[in-house]
Amino acid sequence: MNGKIAPSMMCADIGKLTETLELFEKTGIEYLHIDVMDGVFVKNFTLGTDYCKNLRKMTKIPLDIHLMITEPEWKIGWFDPQPGDYVSIHAESTNHLQRALAAVKSCGAKAMAALNPATPLSALDYVLDDIDGVLLMTVNPGFAGQKLVPQTLTKITDCRNYLNERGYSHVEIEVDGNVSFENAKKMCAAGADIYICGTSSVFCKDASIEENIKTMRACI
Ligand code: DX5
Ligand code: ZN
Repeated sequence: MNGKIAPSMMCADIGKLTETLELFEKTGIEYLHIDVMDGVFVKNFTLGTDYCKNLRKMTKIPLDIHLMITEPEWKIGWFDPQPGDYVSIHAESTNHLQRALAAVKSCGAKAMAALNPATPLSALDYVLDDIDGVLLMTVNPGFAGQKLVPQTLTKITDCRNYLNERGYSHVEIEVDGNVSFENAKKMCAAGADIYICGTSSVFCKDASIEENIKTMRACI
């Protein structure tokens, strides 16, 4: 098991950001997951371009920018994606998925296609050469603290098989939503690679962030 952890920064205490980032660097956190929501694609409004810009001044940990916005294909440059970053584009958010993914790659970043729970894997059929990862929403996007959509566990396995059968075993699978310690074990067994950890795990109030990271590492 060598899963990667991407804490969901919308769940982080902004007042303790410096110490939280220092802890993440000390514990080898692989990505910082940035949920960008425009109030249109999802009915919530969260982190934005300035947050990303300031975060880059505070840490070298790569960003994993989750664009839950309309017309992403024209807005990717606003986030100044860097080599090593992931930028995920929802297949449901644009008529120009391939254009958007190619735009991410042209910035030197890694491109990820994001799928809501109900969206079939066939949405990936004609962009497999444009992606480095697939983000499978395991809740309906928009809010932290939701419960896993149960059928998404099978979807993780189906996605791993779908990619491997087509010769894309290098494409990573990222899971996003209610990644609790218990769910993470099931997601790992199903074939996930990158775990977005919010209130269900890393930022769970029952223990310290450092303890939660240790527990999560043991699950994935
Ligand atoms: C969901 C968000 C996630 C996540 C937050 O739209 O993209 O960041 O759900 O973590 P949890 O689900 O554990 O509160
Ligand atoms: Zn997210």
